Amino acid sequence: MVEIKNYDNYTYSHSLNVGILSIMLASEMGITRNRLDDIALCALMHDIGKIDVPIEIINKNGPVTDLEFAVIKTHPDKGVERLRKCFNVSREVLQGIQCHHEKIDGSGYPYGYKGNRIPLFGRILAIADVYDALTSHRSYRKAWLPNAAIEYIMAGADTQFDHEMVQLFMRLVCAYPSGTVVKLCDGSIAVVIKNYSENVLRPKLRLLEDGPLGSKGTEVDLFEDTDYLHLTIKSVLGASEDDAFKLPDSIIK
Ligand SMILES: [Fe+2]
Repeated sequence: MVEIKNYDNYTYSHSLNVGILSIMLASEMGITRNRLDDIALCALMHDIGKIDVPIEIINKNGPVTDLEFAVIKTHPDKGVERLRKCFNVSREVLQGIQCHHEKIDGSGYPYGYKGNRIPLFGRILAIADVYDALTSHRSYRKAWLPNAAIEYIMAGADTQFDHEMVQLFMRLVCAYPSGTVVKLCDGSIAVVIKNYSENVLRPKLRLLEDGPLGSKGTEVDLFEDTDYLHLTIKSVLGASEDDAFKLPDSIIK
């Protein structure tokens, strides 16, 4: 981990986050304690092969060339080589590292494995890896909001990611944490007060202003109340510079 931190701070924090997310997902899957230790090690070390890729390529401010991408694609194998040389790690850990960029439809790298041909740890890491990468700030793009990353992962179920694992992952991540101020499709502004693991995209809200749904303070449950099935969350207030966060006047006063 020290070597990873010395190489690049983003890769270090990304490895820690992927570690946490992978343990959460594996635990939700009912994986035994012994194997949780292994998935933790696998996730923490999944990008160690990047140390052998020039940092200018990893942190390039813009699209990489085909040649540069070819170099990036060597990092799973390079990681395995490093660990195999220095430590006595299990075969399952090595396979997970080797296959964390494989995709269910066979379009990933380095081998283009499909479906269950991709080892279990590789399939777990793939979801955790992409979720953390999308929700992190990079020099070439802003961090995605959790809800956007969740939508992306859901859309990739069965093409990029293992479908059943995506279903379990959706129960663990929070699209709209309590306190998030959202705008609904009918223009209402509300604050998130409760989340449901059964559907992380439809939380319980409290209106921040009087409107068509009721007076300020009215609770609107997007998950449990069928009267609100037509309503969707359109945006998160304060999420972008063009959408400067403005609390309704009624709140400020
Ligand atoms: Fe990677």
